[in-house]
Amino acid sequence: MGKFITFEGGDGSGKTTQLLRTVDWLKSQGQDVLQTFEPGDSPLGKEIRPLLLSGEHVPVPAAELLLFLADRAQHVETVIKPALETGKWVVCDRYTDSTLAYQLAGRALQDTPQLRDMLKWAECGCEPDVTIWLDLSVEDAAIRMASRQAGGEAANRLDEEKTSFHQAVYQAFDSIQKDNSQRVKRIDARQSIEDVQADIQAVLQNL
Ligand code: TYD
Repeated sequence: MGKFITFEGGDGSGKTTQLLRTVDWLKSQGQDVLQTFEPGDSPLGKEIRPLLLSGEHVPVPAAELLLFLADRAQHVETVIKPALETGKWVVCDRYTDSTLAYQLAGRALQDTPQLRDMLKWAECGCEPDVTIWLDLSVEDAAIRMASRQAGGEAANRLDEEKTSFHQAVYQAFDSIQKDNSQRVKRIDARQSIEDVQADIQAVLQNL
């Protein structure tokens, strides 16, 4: 079995840059790596993604949560599991922690044991071996996002939520990390690109 690594973090945290560098580094170490993301990185998921993010339709919170879970179950069974079974290391941009943060906390859904069970169930038995959380405050992230959007990068429907939503998402990641400190590693995303990458490599070296 390969290892399952997920990346989490708010917009502007440098997640995509760090994920790409990490994949390159793992490959340079001789690992066979599958790079993937949620929502949308399966043939069915490709159809689900615009339903969630384009803004053409606005799903009610329950529908939004269920669409993310549908995307995940399909992704795990058809993409992630087959790769892990052939010994690949799977590096996934966002996973269940994003659902906890954006849907449960961001949308202020009632956090019940039933809902938690459903989130587990949608993982189809695939829990990350390690999760890299790029920790950047909402204030610092907003500064970075403003300069990016001035550069023409498009924001999705969730990026455009108000500050209180992003604060709730941040607080959720913070508690997820504290409650799962074995699995979830907090990386200070205010550092330089090189220093963040060095911290990530130090974590993954232990795998
Ligand atoms: P995306 O454009 O893929 O990139 P980024 O991760 O860089 O933001 O955006 C995916 C969006 O979907 C992002 O705003 C977070 C959101 N999301 C959820 O709300 N719940 C989830 O379970 C997942 C996987 C993502």
